[in-house]
Amino acid sequence: MKKYILKITSVNKTELKLESGKNTFTIPATSDAIKKAKTAMRKGSNLSIGIEGEKLKYGTSSSMPNQCNKFVSAELEKYWDQYVPPVNKEHAELMSFIHNDAISLRPSLLMLPDLQWKYLVRSAMRGKNIMMTGAAGSGKTMAAKALANALDRPEFYYNLGATQDPRSTLVGNTHFAKDKGTFFSESSFVKAIQTEDAIILLDELSRAHPEAWNILMTVLDPGQRYLRLDEADNSPIVKVAKGVTFIATANIGNEYTSTRVIDRALLDRFTIIEMELLNKEKEEALLLQMYPEADKTMISNIASIVSATRDEMKTEVPRISTSVSTRASVEFASLCHDGFTLEESAEVTVYPLFDDAGGLDSERTFIKQLVQKFIPSNTDDNLFNTEDGEELFTEEDIDSAS
Ligand SMILES: Nc1ncnc2c1ncn2[C@@H]1O[C@H](COP(=O)(O)OP(=O)(O)OP(=O)(O)O)[C@@H](O)[C@H]1O
Ligand SMILES: [Mg+2]
Repeated sequence: MKKYILKITSVNKTELKLESGKNTFTIPATSDAIKKAKTAMRKGSNLSIGIEGEKLKYGTSSSMPNQCNKFVSAELEKYWDQYVPPVNKEHAELMSFIHNDAISLRPSLLMLPDLQWKYLVRSAMRGKNIMMTGAAGSGKTMAAKALANALDRPEFYYNLGATQDPRSTLVGNTHFAKDKGTFFSESSFVKAIQTEDAIILLDELSRAHPEAWNILMTVLDPGQRYLRLDEADNSPIVKVAKGVTFIATANIGNEYTSTRVIDRALLDRFTIIEMELLNKEKEEALLLQMYPEADKTMISNIASIVSATRDEMKTEVPRISTSVSTRASVEFASLCHDGFTLEESAEVTVYPLFDDAGGLDSERTFIKQLVQKFIPSNTDDNLFNTEDGEELFTEEDIDSAS
């Protein structure tokens, strides 16, 4: 029996990546191969593959991998050609795309955990309607656009928060011309839904006019998937083409008063993916990536300030009514990058988000005091102490923020 010892580089549901000297190759993940590979990885040893007649036998081995034998892959490959995967090929490809390729398609500047990104990719590939929810400036639109980009499918964008007349945006307009009389011109949305495999972004669905929701109700229902061209019951309908995916974004939460409460029935038509607010480390990593030449302490201070506002919002009785979004922190950092001081940048980008009613007890005082703590020369000043000498912000708060 011929036997090869190979180093395992990775194992997933569809394939095993192996190394032999300088050669690397991939073998299909049969249940037997996976089982032995996992044992080998647990023991820190290598995978052995024996060729016995027409069969391959897997085992673990503590010996060194075979060196530089380019015949190994050639010889073993003929066995892979004969191999029929247990799941159908399309499914195996879909799984391989989601679990292997998708991560590299996420833009490096998008901070979204692997799991959420893979879930996003998977939902789109499975033709689900996706709703990105989360606070303002948390990357909902960015993630939705990145997904459309990554999948390389025809893409259409509608900002429903900005449309005053949903019927003309989503359905079309009736016009009059002397020679033709009245005629109907359909909207670009009508064309979009008839485009196979299209990805259609419905940005700011939560701010849309309720009439837009009514129009979309049948379009988004997996059992219906059609658009009626007129309000009349017997009016013509347009079918949603095969493979079309809708991605909507919504600010959901009581902080967003200008947002309408989305109809429960509409919400039910979506798979929900929530964008979380970044913690200090992630915020810092993002800002450093965006402004690599900026002062590192400054960036770290900005990340500390914004994440302190987010932590404060999670407390039982928060002293502020909103936190600083990633959108705002990017703007904050960009000013510092352009030579404004931390305080100047905060004054124009962050302070206006916080109400100054209430003087020393105001949210503005809270945020100013927080920022002051990160200005080196002011660290020991008592600028924002309250009259009785008691600080709104304790040293502990600051320690936990930085
Ligand atoms: N998770 C994130 N990763 C990377 N950048 C982010 C993230 N969240 C926000 N940003 C930054 O903030 C900007 C605004 O993000 P985006 O427009 O996607 O927010 P949004 O959630 O759609 O906000 P809104 O609710 O106001 O529409 C982005 O261009 C990016 O610079
Ligand atoms: Mg948005």
